Amino acid sequence: MKPRDLRGILQYIPIFREKIFVIAADGAVVSHVNFSNLLLDIAVLRSLNIHVVLVHGAAEQIAQSAKEQSLTPSDTNGTGITDDTTLKLAIIAANTLTHEILEGFAANDLRAANANAVTAQPFGVIKGIDHLNTGQVSRIDNELLQSLISKGITPVIPPLGFDGKGNTFRLNSDSVARQIAESLAATKLIFISTVDGLQVGEEIKRQIVSTDLEMILNNSPKNIPSVQLSKARHAADACAAGVPRVHIINGLITEGLLAEVFSNEGIGTLVYANEYRQIRSASKKDVASILRLSRDAMDRDQLIDRSKETIEECLDDYSIFEIDDNPIACVALHQYPNENTGELAHLFVNPAYARQGIGQRLIQYTEKQASKSGLTKIVTLSTQSFAYFENKAGFSIGSVEDLPNERRLTYQSQDRNSKILIKQV
Ligand SMILES: CC(C)(COP(=O)(O)OP(=O)(O)OC[C@H]1O[C@@H](n2cnc3c(N)ncnc32)[C@H](O)[C@@H]1OP(=O)(O)O)[C@@H](O)C(=O)NCCC(=O)NCCS
Repeated sequence: MKPRDLRGILQYIPIFREKIFVIAADGAVVSHVNFSNLLLDIAVLRSLNIHVVLVHGAAEQIAQSAKEQSLTPSDTNGTGITDDTTLKLAIIAANTLTHEILEGFAANDLRAANANAVTAQPFGVIKGIDHLNTGQVSRIDNELLQSLISKGITPVIPPLGFDGKGNTFRLNSDSVARQIAESLAATKLIFISTVDGLQVGEEIKRQIVSTDLEMILNNSPKNIPSVQLSKARHAADACAAGVPRVHIINGLITEGLLAEVFSNEGIGTLVYANEYRQIRSASKKDVASILRLSRDAMDRDQLIDRSKETIEECLDDYSIFEIDDNPIACVALHQYPNENTGELAHLFVNPAYARQGIGQRLIQYTEKQASKSGLTKIVTLSTQSFAYFENKAGFSIGSVEDLPNERRLTYQSQDRNSKILIKQV
């Protein structure tokens, strides 16, 4: 791990401390060799005082043991019909997996317990089809889960539920995880499967607002591969019920869980409940982020080299674009009121968020600020992004005469030969 990564992680710690993450791992993830690494990731979360509830599936193991016994399961993932034979397979598979998970937790010095926290009822007869032993969650025992969590014990939840009358039902683990996340008001619900994220059309979506996902699910569900529909549906529903962030990640990637939770870029898909992006004025604590964000661009001479002190001196001029409380872009507006001119400077967008219109939003925002302050003209200097300002933001190439007097002097002394761009606002 690089020191820079560590700094990135540290910024999240106060946000997530004592919060609950519900993690839903598919059976195929639990039986994969990388699962031991996933447990290490969970150990890191626990060591940072993040509470975890682990729900697991069993579809792969049910299919596998049916094959070994030359049986045909009536359903493997708890959404179809579960006949008696399939229920037996599910009980053995789920209990074996829970045992393996508890064993793994113990090997990592983590306390965990098989929590009987889900009461179930029959899924019932749908359009004339009796789903037999397939169940649905009727109640989550929050008190039990909270008491385990408060003692530092990670509840491990199998995809099974009891009805209190001696019946066991096969449950879909995505659905169980969603309902636990809602019930515990979890900060995150993290679906871990064996694919890289949620595919919509041809691409894996990196982020999607839940209402957009809802729209796709309602209007064009064919855009989502059928095997991912369940997770997509539960992700959208969880957000609608108040879970702010749902992640869909690939559990076969080493340190994938940590990368997803502790970096803006993530490795999978983030489904978020609301518009969580905003532009705000910079404050003292942002100086380090501004420097960290744009250091590479300064090294490449895309931006003028600025020290911590230079930024601090004109910090009031800076605005930050943040996602999920994390700065991912910045811009400054230096004002020359005597000449009714503003200089747009230090525009930088984290390359992981390139081409999402963030740069243009910051330019528009700066133009509005300038106009509110009574300025009539904006200038900007650029060595490598002048075409961007011309093509995407309506600037045109100007000359040294367009610069405010004071700025002209520094321009000449800086000797960067930047292009000068101007725009009336
Ligand atoms: C220039 C910069 C701010 C663009 O940010 P962004 O949020 O990715 O840009 P947007 O999403 O608003 O616009 C993307 C479009 O601009 C184009 N674009 C991006 N950078 C460009 C550049 N340097 N030159 C020309 N076009 C560029 C993209 O190709 C894309 O085009 P498309 O819409 O046709 O696909 C960003 O690349 C950056 O931080 N660059 C390094 C710092 C810099 O040069 N700052 C400006 C000097 S103050």
